[in-house]
Amino acid sequence: MLDSSQGKPDVNATHSCPYAPIDAEISGLEYCRTVVGFESVGSTNELAKDWALKNTIRPGTLILADEQTDGRGRLNHSWHSPRGRGIYASLLLAPLTPPDKASFVTLTTGLALHQAISGLISPAGNRLDIKWPNDIIWENRKLAGILAESVIKDGQQIFIVVGFGINVTNEHFPPEIQSRAVSLYQINRQVLSRHDVLLKILPVLENRLRQLATADYERIRYDWEQASSFARGRKVKYFDKHGPVMGITNGLKQDGALQIVTRNHQVVDVYHGEIFEY
Ligand code: BTN
Repeated sequence: MLDSSQGKPDVNATHSCPYAPIDAEISGLEYCRTVVGFESVGSTNELAKDWALKNTIRPGTLILADEQTDGRGRLNHSWHSPRGRGIYASLLLAPLTPPDKASFVTLTTGLALHQAISGLISPAGNRLDIKWPNDIIWENRKLAGILAESVIKDGQQIFIVVGFGINVTNEHFPPEIQSRAVSLYQINRQVLSRHDVLLKILPVLENRLRQLATADYERIRYDWEQASSFARGRKVKYFDKHGPVMGITNGLKQDGALQIVTRNHQVVDVYHGEIFEY
C-alpha cells in the first residue's frame, strides 16, 4: 500500500479505491490523465495540495478516496464522507484562468456536475439546481459540493485543486445534516455505482474545463444562468461585514460575481460566502 503522507503515489493505488476508473476508461481526457485512489484519506484536497507542493503529482492527476476522515467543505464546513457511499475526488490542474476570472473555476465545475448528474436523476422532471456559487441541490437538499483551492508557492498560484464530493448511495445522513443532505440513492431509489457516476462526470467536466481554458466565459456564464434558478429574480439574504443584506439576484457579472440588487436599491457584486433564501 502507499503512504499518503509522503513519497510517490503507488501505481497500483487505484485498486484501493473500488470505484476508480482504469486507464483505458479515461484515455483521451486531457484534464484527467492519471488516477490515484485510496481506501481512506483525511481529505483528497489536502493530499492533492500537499503532493502538488512536493512535486509528487502532476496536473491532470485525479485523487480519489473510498472514505475521507476529515473531508472539507467551503467556509470551514466539513464534508460528510463515509466509506463506500460517496465520490470524494480532487483534480490537480494548472491554473486555467487569469486571477480576475478565478470565480469561474467553481462555477464551471458546478455546471459540469449539474449537467452530468441531471442525466442520472429520475424521474427526469425533478429539477436539479445550482445554488450559488456551486452547491448542487435537489429540493433544497445538497447532493454535491465543490471546493476549489489554489496551491501557492512563493506567493504565486502554481496549481489549482478542484475537489468535489457527491452523495451517491447514502441511505441516511447524521441527524445534524439529514434535512439538508440528499443522495442519488434517496432521489432515485435505485443504487447507481460510483464508478459509473464518475465516468459520466469526467467527460462533461473535460468539455467544460476546455471552455474555461479557452476563455469561453460567456458560454459558461450563459449556461450557468440557465441551470441555476438562483441566477435571477430570487429573493436572497447574504452577510457582509456589517450584517445581513436582503436583495434580489440579478445574474452573473462578467467576472463571475453574483449581482444582487439590495432592498435599498444598491447593486452589489458578491464574490464570496453564501446566500440564503428568505
Ligand atoms: C462544499 O460544498 O462545501 C464543498 C464540499 C467539497 C467536498 C469535496 S470531497 C473531495 C474533496 N476533498 C475535500 O476535503 N473536500 C472536497
